[in-house]
Amino acid sequence: MTAERESHMNNEHAISVNNVGMTFRSRDGEDTTVLKGLDFHVEPGQFVSIVGQSGSGKTTLLKTISGLLEPTEGHVLVKGRPISEGLKDIAMVFQGPVLLPWRNNIDNVLLPLEFRGARTNESRGYARELLEMVGLGDKAERYSYELSGGMQQRVAICRALVSHPELLLMDEPFGALDAMTRDSMNFEIQRIWQTTGCSILFVTHSISEAVWLADRVVVVGDRPGRIVADIVIDLPRPRGKEHRFSAAFSDYATEIESHIGVTTGIS
Ligand SMILES: Nc1ncnc2c1ncn2[C@@H]1O[C@H](COP(=O)(O)OP(=O)(O)OP(=O)(O)O)[C@@H](O)[C@H]1O
Ligand SMILES: [Mg+2]
Repeated sequence: MTAERESHMNNEHAISVNNVGMTFRSRDGEDTTVLKGLDFHVEPGQFVSIVGQSGSGKTTLLKTISGLLEPTEGHVLVKGRPISEGLKDIAMVFQGPVLLPWRNNIDNVLLPLEFRGARTNESRGYARELLEMVGLGDKAERYSYELSGGMQQRVAICRALVSHPELLLMDEPFGALDAMTRDSMNFEIQRIWQTTGCSILFVTHSISEAVWLADRVVVVGDRPGRIVADIVIDLPRPRGKEHRFSAAFSDYATEIESHIGVTTGIS
């Protein structure tokens, strides 16, 4: 084991992103660098939001952390280990729901447990509880084509939660939801995070959602994607609606907006 690896293991960050870069090569051999020199850590139990312009590389970053993509530079450790060693307690919610059309909703929720051979007699009851929690108790035996886009995304969120992950990677999970459902999902995810103690990395386009949910907001600038700000959100927990209207909240939002503006050259 290298000294560098050993020191990471002793640190035991939930996620450790070390000088990560990603360059895609097109079919005609042209290279595009999407991420460059990203360095940050998420501590166990932390809720970290990531914001940035469309195309800045947020999804690419989440894919390198979950092991779906291998970075072309640097490395990622999850709980001190490379993801390639096969960690089980990590779940990802994608930008789209990606449900299997031939399985009903509750069977889609149960899928990760079946993959791991971890389904027990209690699993179905828990999957049903999760569907009830997101307001879909009466749709458990329905199929995804019978649901709206927002409902499908809620099924995908239940599928991520069913295995009690220690680390949850969420890529704009509430982007397709109407404002009211989104608000109630924000409360639910805060409650789930507080009761389970999992770590969450949460990508969103909504600055107010990012601030309201997170302990820290990381701003990714584009071309190539890199970290331009990492802001600690020092607001009390649990957070209620009133926090969205506090002076401290709007100061955070303004600060984050300024970082996104500066990096895009729009300002
Ligand atoms: N497999 C790939 N091959 C080539 N280019 C890619 C690939 N995946 C992503 N890209 C490019 O990388 C850049 C970042 O994409 P990514 O999906 O990570 O952005 P994003 O920040 O998640 O955007 P959005 O907010 O719109 O979801 C884009 O320019 C995209 O075209
Ligand atoms: Mg994306």
